[in-house]
Amino acid sequence: MVDYLHFFHLYPTFLVLCLAILKDAPRMKIIHISDMHLVPDGNLLFDEDPVKRLQACIADVNQCHVDADLCVITGDLAHDGDEASYRILAACLANLRPPVRLLLGNHDDRPTFRRVFPEAPVDENGFVQSVHDSASGRLIFLDTKEAGTHEGRLCTDRLTWLQNALNGAVGKPVFLFLHHPAFDLNLPSVDWIRLREEQPLRHLVAVHGDVRYMFSGHVHRPSAGTWYGTPFSTVPGTNHQHALDFNLQGPATTSMEAPAYSVISLRESGVTVHFHAFMDASRRYPFLG
Ligand SMILES: [Fe+2]
Repeated sequence: MVDYLHFFHLYPTFLVLCLAILKDAPRMKIIHISDMHLVPDGNLLFDEDPVKRLQACIADVNQCHVDADLCVITGDLAHDGDEASYRILAACLANLRPPVRLLLGNHDDRPTFRRVFPEAPVDENGFVQSVHDSASGRLIFLDTKEAGTHEGRLCTDRLTWLQNALNGAVGKPVFLFLHHPAFDLNLPSVDWIRLREEQPLRHLVAVHGDVRYMFSGHVHRPSAGTWYGTPFSTVPGTNHQHALDFNLQGPATTSMEAPAYSVISLRESGVTVHFHAFMDASRRYPFLG
C-alpha cells in the first residue's frame, strides 16, 4: 500500500506553486493588427487586394483567437484616408468577434474616419486617443496622425492628454499603443517619418515609471527591442511590407513578405508577443522528438 502520509509535508510547497502559476496566468490577450491600407472598389495595392487580406486576417483571428479580450489596430487603416475604404473597414470589422480599438496612422484622415466611426472614443480635442483600464493595467491609445505630413506628431494638446492619462494610472502598469515608433530603428525607410516628439514622450514615460511596453505599426515589419529600458515591438502590415534595407539611399522598397498579426499576452510577470503569418501555407510536420 502506498504511504500517502509520506507526501503530506510537500503539500504547502505544492500549494504555493499552484498559486504562483495561477497568479501568473495571462490576464489579458490582445491581437495587434496594423497597416491594412485599404483601397475601395476592388482596386489592388502592390498587386494584392488589401480588403481580401484583411478578411483573411479577421477569419484567422476568429478561428484561432476568439477568446482575445481586445484587438488593437494601430493605424493606416485606409491607404488614402477615403470614406469608401472606411466603410469597407466597418463592414469587415462587423465580422470580427473580439472587440476592437482603432488608431490612426499617417495615411488616415481624422475627420473622415470620425464621420464613418462616430462611436470611436476621442479625447476632449477630438483626437482619436483613449484609455482602457483592465486587470493588467491601463492601455493607452495615442493619436500620432498629423495632417500634411507622414511624420508622427504629439502636439502640446495630445501630450497634455497623455500626461493626464499617465497621472490617472499612478501605481499601475501602463501599455502604450501608437502608430509611429518614437525613435530610430536603424531603418532609413521609416526613421525619417517616425514620431518627432521623442524627448517629451521619453520624459512622460520616465516620470510614470511603470510603462511596461510600447506597441507600434508604421514599420511594416516585425521588430523589437528596448527604448531607454521600455520594451517595444512593431507588427507587419496585413497587405505589404517594407524591405529590410539598412543602407537605403532612395525611396523605400516595398516587399511582399508574408503579412502577419501579433498575439500579445499580458501577465503579472511580463509580456509575450507572438507573430503569426496568417496566410502562411508552408508545410508542417509532426514533431517526433
Ligand atoms: Fe503603413
